Amino acid sequence: MRKLAIVGVEKEIIELAQECGFKVAGIFDKNSNVRVFNLPVLGNDDSWERIHKEIQDLQVAIALDIPLLKEKLASQYGFENLATVISNSSYISPSATIQKGSLVQRGVKIMPDARIGRVCKLNVNATVHHDCVVGDFCTLAPGCMLLGAVIIEERVFIGAGAIILPKVKVGRDSIIGAGAVVVDDVPAGITVVGVPARPLVKEYVE
Ligand SMILES: CC(C)(COP(=O)(O)OP(=O)(O)OC[C@H]1O[C@@H](n2cnc3c(N)ncnc32)[C@H](O)[C@@H]1OP(=O)(O)O)[C@@H](O)C(=O)NCCC(=O)NCCS
Repeated sequence: MRKLAIVGVEKEIIELAQECGFKVAGIFDKNSNVRVFNLPVLGNDDSWERIHKEIQDLQVAIALDIPLLKEKLASQYGFENLATVISNSSYISPSATIQKGSLVQRGVKIMPDARIGRVCKLNVNATVHHDCVVGDFCTLAPGCMLLGAVIIEERVFIGAGAIILPKVKVGRDSIIGAGAVVVDDVPAGITVVGVPARPLVKEYVE
């Protein structure tokens, strides 16, 4: 049985891994007192090298949502040690591709010729339609929907239930708010919210 450690406290990913036939050996978290499903805390991120020597063939799933953090941890834990975990109750088109370290939850649909990058997290019921490209380290929250030929660059977070219209391009490091309907291209590094989605501008009171 393949052995897996989960980085971060994420009950859904633990259950996903178990459903996919992994033996979950424990979790990595900075808080050694957390208890999830009676699994041991193996250590924090700095304990990885020691634990990796102790438990042979241990793989890792990075269960966190924040794209920048996922990128940092993927290189700390080593891309070669990352597991790709895909729910049996997702639909993945035979012509779609999913890169190493990505996690695909129940009810996700990935349609023909869609391409999913490394260390992406596709949460329950997210849908990626035909010819979409999703860059490395992206997070798709529950129920979001990318319509045909959408391009999502690296490290984008897409909130729950958001809809991205066909052929729209979302620039790297952007955030799409929950429930947004994105009708135009989104520049890199900004947050958009609403219907239709517009940049979120925060007013600061001195
Ligand atoms: C967009 C988002 C990232 C903004 O977070 P934030 O920077 O902390 O923003 P704030 O909560 O300070 O809200 C700022 C303003 O934007 C509004 N706003 C926040 N999120 C919004 C959204 N999704 N849609 C519309 N308006 C939103 C707030 O009402 C607030 O408006 P106000 O200034 O008129 O009071 C966040 O609200 C969001 O939608 N996150 C996605 C959550 C999600 O899907 N999680 C999935 C977990 S599995």
